[in-house]
Amino acid sequence: MQTLPARWYVDQSIYRRERKHIFSSAWWPIGPVESLAKPGAYRAENLFGYRLFVIRDQTGQLRAFHNVCRHRASTLLQDGQGECKELRCPYHGWLYALDGTLKRAPAFIQGELDAAGYHLFPVRVETWRGLVFVCLSDEADDLMTWLGSVDRLCAQFPGPDTLTFFKEFEVRGEANWKTYCDNTVEGYHLNRVHPRLAQALATGKVVIKSYDEGRVVAFHVTYAGDSDGATLRGVDGLWIYRFPGFQLTASEHVFKGERIEPVSPGELRSLNWLWFQGIDQTQVTDACEWSKQVVLEDVAACERVQVNLRTGIYQHGPLSPLQETHVAKFQALVRQAIEAV
Ligand code: FES
Ligand SMILES: [Fe+2]
Repeated sequence: MQTLPARWYVDQSIYRRERKHIFSSAWWPIGPVESLAKPGAYRAENLFGYRLFVIRDQTGQLRAFHNVCRHRASTLLQDGQGECKELRCPYHGWLYALDGTLKRAPAFIQGELDAAGYHLFPVRVETWRGLVFVCLSDEADDLMTWLGSVDRLCAQFPGPDTLTFFKEFEVRGEANWKTYCDNTVEGYHLNRVHPRLAQALATGKVVIKSYDEGRVVAFHVTYAGDSDGATLRGVDGLWIYRFPGFQLTASEHVFKGERIEPVSPGELRSLNWLWFQGIDQTQVTDACEWSKQVVLEDVAACERVQVNLRTGIYQHGPLSPLQETHVAKFQALVRQAIEAV
């Protein structure tokens, strides 16, 4: 088993094909549904170059649209979270209702424009256990089908639908999204890259399995406890990766959702949301900082790889049959998607 060619991690044309054939047909987590509870609450994102937003409309329905004015294509909302009563384009002032209907187009005579023909471009939006997802493709499966085994595997753990939301954090990295995913689906690096996490895990109790033809990889773990207390002792945990950009960790106390977002061939963004129950404020703060530390450790490891994938010195390397079969499967999924077109 050999890794994908190094060129695939830096090449703009490969990235464009991935965007078209992998990213655009996947579901991407956007954030907690409770952050979009009130009519007018929105969240605008730049998802691998596509400007879009999710918004709660006047009737309480969750909607998503491309962040594109139908007049001359201006972006309507700045990236980030906010609230609004209606959507006014900052360029020439076209006005849209929260459900995407064009309400007013200044300098056009009444009846001159058929408003129905200038509705905002819709994006698919669905919710799973209190986490909002969007998908850019009309042909892709619905969210539950796409999640596949994820729902069943998580069934024994509390999720965002019952836990208390704590906070969101972001880590940006100078690495290709695949560098990060290669790393995500193996436990080979655990001892060297994550000393605290490795110490907290019960030895011999990490079982890594893949489901749904390799699109879902799950680490079934048991915690041995941590240096600063027995909070985790004997607690079962689950870490799941769902190809290409969704990851979660679950236990009886904490649930974390993560979006692994490709930004460019050499950049990624890891966006994380954390929920908890049954632990106090100090413990949840520690769990969040620790969780961020793990992401930072992973990103740093990936950046040490990425700088060398750029130079052409390294072409590809061998994958361990004992430790890296899921890396091989992940890379096969990428290859299939890219070469099938
Ligand atoms: S581009 Fe939006 S009003 Fe002109
Ligand atoms: Fe890691």
